[in-house]
Amino acid sequence: MNTVAVPHKIACLDLKGQHQQIKKEVFEAFEKVYDTTAFSGGPFVEEFEKKFAAFCHTKYAVGVNNGTSALYLAMLALGIGKGDEVIVPANTFIATAWAVSYTGATPVFVDCTDDTWQIDAAKIEEKINANTKAVVGVHLYGQPFDIESVAAICHKHGLYLVEDAAQAQGAQYKGIPVGCFGEMACFSFYPGKNLGACGEAGGITTSKDVYYKHLLSLRNHGSEVRYYHDEIGFNMRMSGLEGAALTVKLKYLRGWNNRRKEIARRYQNEIDNIQITVQAQPEWAASVYHLFVITTDDRDRLSKYLNENNIYPGLHYPVPCHLQKAYSHLKYQEGDCPNAEYLASHCLSLPMYAELTDKEVEHVIDVLNRY
Ligand SMILES: Cc1ncc(COP(=O)(O)O)c(C=O)c1O
Repeated sequence: MNTVAVPHKIACLDLKGQHQQIKKEVFEAFEKVYDTTAFSGGPFVEEFEKKFAAFCHTKYAVGVNNGTSALYLAMLALGIGKGDEVIVPANTFIATAWAVSYTGATPVFVDCTDDTWQIDAAKIEEKINANTKAVVGVHLYGQPFDIESVAAICHKHGLYLVEDAAQAQGAQYKGIPVGCFGEMACFSFYPGKNLGACGEAGGITTSKDVYYKHLLSLRNHGSEVRYYHDEIGFNMRMSGLEGAALTVKLKYLRGWNNRRKEIARRYQNEIDNIQITVQAQPEWAASVYHLFVITTDDRDRLSKYLNENNIYPGLHYPVPCHLQKAYSHLKYQEGDCPNAEYLASHCLSLPMYAELTDKEVEHVIDVLNRY
């Protein structure tokens, strides 16, 4: 095995460069929030909501305190609860399933395809029964899932479609931004996301007035008029500081996503080691490469080799949802979702963020090709 000398550590993600670049502007925005004391909800959140809705081609966006809350409130707005089933991919971050469980409903896990690693539309119908109410499709790693196929199944069986777009701000399906296809779409603005806050934040996009009104109430103690509570609600408001930071960062998102695309293109075109498989990308799926996931036969060996060369890949995710201990009561077995299981035991995430230099990208490619 060849190894090459490297200048410094290259992590899967490093947020420092991005935040230094926009520090002055974000601090000025923070100062405005501070001076007006609009700390919880308020005009800075509303400004972001308007701009983000426009970005997603929806009528509304509702800012909340994180992406998990966004998913939970979307489930509640659809009236999902005890006795219901909601189909979710086995290959996703666990929060997609949490949202279903929080309502008392049951997540039903569907395998991913063996090449796009997204929910396999062909395996959804066999999981549908009289209790099934919705499908949550996930634009995982920043790449849109097969929206038309999943939407057609939802339409045929009278199910709601919700997008989990937590990892996919700015991704496009057939040229249209994700976030406007389902009844609602849920976003995370966790700091490491393509559009990340300077703390925790999330949001829901929708074009339907009925959901919009309900979400506003749910996130604010079930209240439309102060101190009058029409239903049991939550404090899941977005903070003013996060709204202000996100408005600043939204201006840069396209540029940052374009740089991620450039890096991904290089990985796809220049990594020619047959021991490494990259995610298949149908021509209708314009990914924003939140993660650049690969698979390889011996992940531990590759990981060790990369570390020796100062490259520190990530791992998203080591256990598929259906085999998580938290869901052992659902009695899934190994072999139930073989593609998701294969991925969980063979995947690694290459360094991916807009501030990676060409030199760093070339180093990653070079090291991988020498493996
Ligand atoms: C696919 C997916 N869904 C939901 C979430 C939950 O978002 P948050 O961490 O903001 O609660 C995440 C965030 O990691 C995610 O990646």
